[in-house]
Parts: sequence; structure tokens; C-alpha cells
Amino acid sequence: MKIGIIGTGAIGSTIAGKLSAAGHQVKVTNTRDMATLKEIAASLGAEAATIEDVVKDVEAIIFSIPFKAYKDLPKNLLQDVPQEVTIMDTSNYYPMRDGELPDLEGKTESEYISETLGRPVIKVFNNILEYTLRHKGKPAGEEGRIAISVAGDNEAHKKVAAELVDTTGFDTVDGGSLSESWRQEPGTPAYCTELNAAELKQALAATEKGKGPVARDAVMQKFQSLRSFPSHEEMVALNRSASTGNLR
Ligand SMILES: NC(=O)c1ccc[n+]([C@@H]2O[C@H](COP(=O)([O-])OP(=O)(O)OC[C@H]3O[C@@H](n4cnc5c(N)ncnc54)[C@H](OP(=O)(O)O)[C@@H]3O)[C@@H](O)[C@H]2O)c1
Repeated sequence: MKIGIIGTGAIGSTIAGKLSAAGHQVKVTNTRDMATLKEIAASLGAEAATIEDVVKDVEAIIFSIPFKAYKDLPKNLLQDVPQEVTIMDTSNYYPMRDGELPDLEGKTESEYISETLGRPVIKVFNNILEYTLRHKGKPAGEEGRIAISVAGDNEAHKKVAAELVDTTGFDTVDGGSLSESWRQEPGTPAYCTELNAAELKQALAATEKGKGPVARDAVMQKFQSLRSFPSHEEMVALNRSASTGNLR
């Protein structure tokens, strides 16, 4: 598949590397000069492209940039992109990092991103930590395979997203429509807690609206109070405990 990826940070580069290694034709872009971007792209087995070119002649587009950066993208970036192209969004909103966004009020994060881009997106790869994505993938059917949820309003595009997730080594669970995607936002039991498909399905169903942002902010405050950055295992444990209201 021909895939364009915007963002070569922790998540975008991991996805690009895995999809290129699996034989997909991947183009990437970021904010660097073309010479630096070419080096990064080559290290990922991908091609370097400008922001305008990364969305051209592809079957799928993955945005993996900070939440606050969407508004800096060129206006009408996707206007000539055919409707069949699957557009995915990996982003998460953290007010302490991304600032207050009054326009987000009353919407899920990915509904806000869809409005900003002028196109519906599929929310995917948002509820997995970079370390998990990079190191904990397993072949399909293997015991203990971790799952990611896929939310959106277009079933065909959700299928494409699920196939790409499978390629990276993870199961998928249907996260419902974009308006339901708050169930996989930061602070929820489904968020970066390394669950298998059955556990993730249960976590998505059990999530209570409004609790995610409270737990998200509690985790961020906890981070700030720690003397050193937590290990990966500590981070997962923190997410798990925060989402159940028993932050440790
Ligand atoms: N880190 C995680 O564990 C994790 C897990 C799940 C989801 N997420 C979410 O996924 C998104 C990406 O996270 P990340 O950790 O990969 O972020 P990151 O390491 O900070 O990387 C962000 C990437 O976006 C690029 N970028 C920023 N503004 C851009 C613009 N206007 N045009 C093109 N590229 C732009 C940056 O370019 P430069 O390289 O040139 O700076 C960088 O490559 C975030 O929304 C995050 O919340 C993160």
C-alpha cells in the first residue's frame, strides 16, 4: 500500500519503520529541511516528501504530530485527496502540553482534528505507548498479543487501519464511532494500559464519560512530582491505576 506519514517522532517513525519493513511504500515528512528529512526517511526505509507531496498519490495517510500542531498545517492540505483515502490520526490532547483549546469543548479529540483537517479521520495508534509499539508487537494469534482500538465513522477505512495495526504486531478492537472515541482518550482504562483484545473491549465498554480527563491530569501531575522519568513498566502501572481512580 502507498502510505504518507506526517510526523517522524516517537510514534510516526515507529509506524513508518514497521510498515516499510513489511513492504509498504511509505513517504514521510516533518518540519526539518529536506537534507535532514532524507536522512531520517532513509533510516526508516521510507521516502522523504514535502508536506504537500506526502498526501499525494497515496492510499492511506497517517497524521502523527502534536495535537497543537494541526492548526499549523497548510490550509486545505487534503482538498485534492480522494475520499477513498484512509486518513488516520494518532494524536492525544494534553492541556498542560497543548494549551487550552476552547474549540475542543464538547467534542472528542478526533472530531476536533477532523474539523481542523476538513476530513473525517480514523482514531488509531493513540492508545499505545511508543515503547509498547516499538518493542511489544507479536505475530497474529500469539498468546498475550496487545490490542489497540480503532474508532471512526467509515467501516472501510477502519478496516484499512486495523490491517495496518495488525502489520505492526497488534490486535485491534472496534472503538466505535468518532463521537465515541472519548473511550480511548488519555486517562481512560483503554489508554496505554497494554490490554489484550478481550480486556480492551471490556475497558472501552466500562469507561465513564468525564473521568478520563481527570485521570489524565492526575497522571501528568504525578509525573511532575517524580524525581526521575518513570520506567516503561511504571508508566503502564500509573496509567492503569489512574484510570481506575486509585493513582499510585
Ligand atoms: N509518544 C507516545 O508514546 C505516543 C503514544 C500514542 C500517541 N501519541 C500521540 O501521537 C502524536 C505524535 O506523538 P510523538 O510522541 O511521536 O510526537 P513527537 O515525538 O513530538 O514527534 C512529533 C512529530 O511531528 C512533527 N511535526 C510537528 N509539527 C509538524 C508540522 N506542522 N508538519 C509536519 N510535521 C510536524 C515533528 O517534526 P520534527 O521531527 O521536524 O520536529 C515530529 O516529527 C501526538 O499527538 C501524541 O500525543 C504519542
